[in-house]
Amino acid sequence: MRMKKQSKQRRRNRRKGLLAFVIVLLLVVWGGVKLPLVFTESVEEAAFGSTALYRSKTVDNALMRTGDLILVNGGYAYDFEQAETKYPIASLKNDSYQVKNDEISLNKKTIKQFNALFRAFERHTGHNNVSIISAYRDYAYQESVLNDYISSYGYDTAMDYVAMPGFSEHHTGLAADIAVADEAGETETFTGEDEYAFVGENAWKYGFINRYPADKTGVTGIANEPWHYRYVGKAHAYVMREKGMCLEEYEEYLRNFTFGQSCLSVNIHGDDYKIYYIPAGEGSTRLQVPLFGRYTVSGNNMDGFIVTV
Ligand code: DAL
Ligand code: ZN
Repeated sequence: MRMKKQSKQRRRNRRKGLLAFVIVLLLVVWGGVKLPLVFTESVEEAAFGSTALYRSKTVDNALMRTGDLILVNGGYAYDFEQAETKYPIASLKNDSYQVKNDEISLNKKTIKQFNALFRAFERHTGHNNVSIISAYRDYAYQESVLNDYISSYGYDTAMDYVAMPGFSEHHTGLAADIAVADEAGETETFTGEDEYAFVGENAWKYGFINRYPADKTGVTGIANEPWHYRYVGKAHAYVMREKGMCLEEYEEYLRNFTFGQSCLSVNIHGDDYKIYYIPAGEGSTRLQVPLFGRYTVSGNNMDGFIVTV
């Protein structure tokens, strides 16, 4: 009798637990309720020793010149041999933003991430008038941008704002300049102010950084450009934002995390990332990558590779 009563009680408790779980799930899914303490964002430097779950993979050092984390600046040229295929933005974009003409192009993933960023911006503000006015540039195009700038503003100003041909992030297909368009399609400079601050504050969630901030001109060598966004990947954009680092500083910081020693451990809303640096070998490099699960490898365009697990 007593046993029966107890198991009935247990069944009732289980049902109650299940009901509570379903209610919480519905609140989260439909109500947009955020559960505090369950999901966190954090970045920490962690010991990283076990190699049992990793294997070696040898890559040609030419691959050091390609990937989402390549540093392209006055000191490090872009290697056009390693270029990814470019796609016209107009052919892949959604309706949440504009593009100046049908030729402007980027790498596929960069377009996909701009789609997501500007969809979020439109949902938040009701505006779909951010316009991509310049994206991929080949060597000759960068040369013409530089010459136009010198004619219009003089040599010194041109040096502050325009990279030398061969040394521009615009060669990578990972970067674009945005502006604000009016009904007639005329554009104004993107300053990232007022409602447009949403773009700067949320870009990291889609893997973008504002590449040339006002407080880093001494490091980047380029003047404040609130309009220039560069794709690096979500975990990296998050760490840069948390630590207040520009790409040059971040690449230096990553050298502290080498395989077998330590890694950068990043948690974003329940998604875990491990990030580490592997210096390049002679001609080719043995990379340690996980046996299971997803990972990406990017060169740093200087002297090594960054693995993101
Ligand atoms: N405006 C950036 C620095 C470029 O010309 O690549
Ligand atoms: Zn730019």
